[in-house]
Amino acid sequence: MIKAVVTGAAGRMGSRIINVLSTSEGISLSGAVERKGHPFVGQDSCGPAGIPQGGVLTAISDDLPDALRTGDVLIDFTSPAASLEHIKTCAELGKSVVIGSTGFSKEQLDVVNQYTGKIPCVLSPNMSVGVNVCFKVLADLAKTLGQDFDVEIVEAHHRLKKDAPSGTAVRMGEVVANALGRNYREVANFHREGITGVRTNKEIGMQTIRGGDIIGEHTVYFIGMGERIELTHRALTRDMFARGAVRAARWVVGRKPGLYDMQDVLGLK
Ligand SMILES: NC(=O)c1ccc[n+]([C@@H]2O[C@H](COP(=O)([O-])OP(=O)(O)OC[C@H]3O[C@@H](n4cnc5c(N)ncnc54)[C@H](OP(=O)(O)O)[C@@H]3O)[C@@H](O)[C@H]2O)c1
Repeated sequence: MIKAVVTGAAGRMGSRIINVLSTSEGISLSGAVERKGHPFVGQDSCGPAGIPQGGVLTAISDDLPDALRTGDVLIDFTSPAASLEHIKTCAELGKSVVIGSTGFSKEQLDVVNQYTGKIPCVLSPNMSVGVNVCFKVLADLAKTLGQDFDVEIVEAHHRLKKDAPSGTAVRMGEVVANALGRNYREVANFHREGITGVRTNKEIGMQTIRGGDIIGEHTVYFIGMGERIELTHRALTRDMFARGAVRAARWVVGRKPGLYDMQDVLGLK
């Protein structure tokens, strides 16, 4: 039985991951962790996870190294800054890690890469099967349609999301840019206002909507002269991200040290 530790245990994603772990085969929760001073520290993790009382799993602690001592893998959906601390602890203890946090800067990703020489890590801005199939389809679409179709990406998320554009939208932009032989950082256009001039051929528009309780929606537009393709993914529940994360946790334990993504986990490469 694989033993999983979950950080951000009382958060929107961490609590759903604990819920999914409670009914998963071959993997179970061995530790739940929140930051020091969090109001849920000391409470049963089944509360935020919506698991009926009596299904006592494990109390939420604020001591990750201690929780990891009896765990095989950490599942971490917190924030980039917290994830960097957590992967450091995993590397020190030789534990595998699955990171779902989004919004890493290039410098932060360089730090992640320093640790993946020591431990296996799955890092993915979106753990849903559907979105990862979209990544694959997008590359094919972009290559086939070529340079004559304008690409615009629109994403929508709940009002509490802290980063923009979403990590998934950025990855979609990177996939399309790579397929078209462009550099995403050079061609991404995040802002149009006033007299912008005409659209350049190579830019990829990145638009963001924030509001209410939208879990996550992404549309990539390929806009040609007289025709348009729109590829949309809509997340209807957080549980499919949680199921993907648990699948990644099962997959990563026992792998060679290195940086992996959900395409590796799902065999889509
Ligand atoms: N990869 C995917 O498929 C996917 C899907 C959905 C979301 N995400 C990403 O996952 C991350 C979390 O999203 P969310 O909606 O669950 O956010 P959330 O509800 O704010 O949950 C994050 C949790 O992590 C806790 N935390 C912060 N620092 C910590 C630390 N040092 N140690 C332990 N816990 C800590 C937070 O505590 P406080 O509330 O006290 O800060 C909070 O409970 C975001 O980056 C989001 O974009 C990824």
